[in-house]
Amino acid sequence: MEENKNIQEETAPEKETNFKMPKIKLPEFNLPKLDLSKLKRLKLKKNAKILLLAVVLLVLVVYGMLTIPGMIDRNNLKKLGYSEEAITKIYELEWEGMILTDELYSDNLNRSIVKENFRKEFLDLYLMTDSLNDDDFLLYSKLILKGYEKADVLSMFNQLEFWEITPLLVFDFVEDTAAYIKDVDDHRVVNSQDSFTLSGNYITYYAETEPVVNQGSIEMMVNKRFALSSDYEPGDLVEARVRYASKGLILSQTAYDTLTQMIDAAEAEEGETTLRMYASSGYRDYAYQEDLYGTYVKRYGEEEADTIAARPGHSEHQTGLTVDMASTSNGGLSKFGDSLEYQWMLKNAHKYGWILRYPPGKEQITGYSAEPWHWRYVGVELATKIYNSKLTFDEYYMLYMAD
Ligand code: DAL
Ligand code: ZN
Repeated sequence: MEENKNIQEETAPEKETNFKMPKIKLPEFNLPKLDLSKLKRLKLKKNAKILLLAVVLLVLVVYGMLTIPGMIDRNNLKKLGYSEEAITKIYELEWEGMILTDELYSDNLNRSIVKENFRKEFLDLYLMTDSLNDDDFLLYSKLILKGYEKADVLSMFNQLEFWEITPLLVFDFVEDTAAYIKDVDDHRVVNSQDSFTLSGNYITYYAETEPVVNQGSIEMMVNKRFALSSDYEPGDLVEARVRYASKGLILSQTAYDTLTQMIDAAEAEEGETTLRMYASSGYRDYAYQEDLYGTYVKRYGEEEADTIAARPGHSEHQTGLTVDMASTSNGGLSKFGDSLEYQWMLKNAHKYGWILRYPPGKEQITGYSAEPWHWRYVGVELATKIYNSKLTFDEYYMLYMAD
């Protein structure tokens, strides 16, 4: 029975033959109604996008047109050897076209173009004088500014030493440079950086004078060309102690402070003899110098007086930064050149800011007979530079300090 029941149950569905499809309800698609205004906006948006794309493309093309040649130019300048800094300066000067067209390059131009003292008008010199160092080049350009022909200057550079050319900055314009070269050459046996003499006379003193350019500065240049005004007086004059100077001597405070330090240092030096020195002359005003110079003229005549004393306004003593030194043990000012104190000062004075102003062997450049006693305060920095250059202050000033 049970088996039959099972069979019945299994076959039961066959009985249902009239199968009815269930009603399927299709989902309703609500198509949006066509809104024309929206369609227009869509179109406009699309147009705007295209326009924007075109503008961006145009900007990119223009930008590319403007920058790519520049980038190529910069690269080519680099290939020629210019540094990034030099290239920037080349663009500032708008020289890139000219330089690239003619492939102009020199180490000297690359180095100099970024410097403050670079002079545009000397482009050809920068290119021509690659073997010259910075100091040479400065001297070279100063001579051109003074009116020398390039060929003459080049010829001097080929035949003379640096220190044989620097006096020309102080001298009057030399018409015959070949004769100058010969004169220098004739004195090669006796001349050196410490002593420079020539047969020719290359300067007419006091022919052209002008006011001191940097009046009041410790670096001021006072010589036969540059004159102080008659009323110039340093603002910080002090009376020196007798331990360091003749009684009543007055001097500029800065100069006095360093003078005392220098004298103390010399006297503290251990050696066979103790060094003893003092200043025997300091500040002299215009009127005093006028009298002094007048006295020399009366005694020796103008020509000789001019080699011993400065005309009023032209004396460094009026700066308050100058002393005439004397050795206590060696008989005063006139013998200072023979003293150990002088030897000590020659080696050490620059460390305190003092320079020997009228050295022996440089008379034709300074315009004065050697004055071992006459020392000028210019500050440690400048004094050290002048000392190392082995030039007179007159040459140094014309080369590195004057415009
Ligand atoms: N003796 C020096 C040159 C002067 O008179 O200033
Ligand atoms: Zn003096």
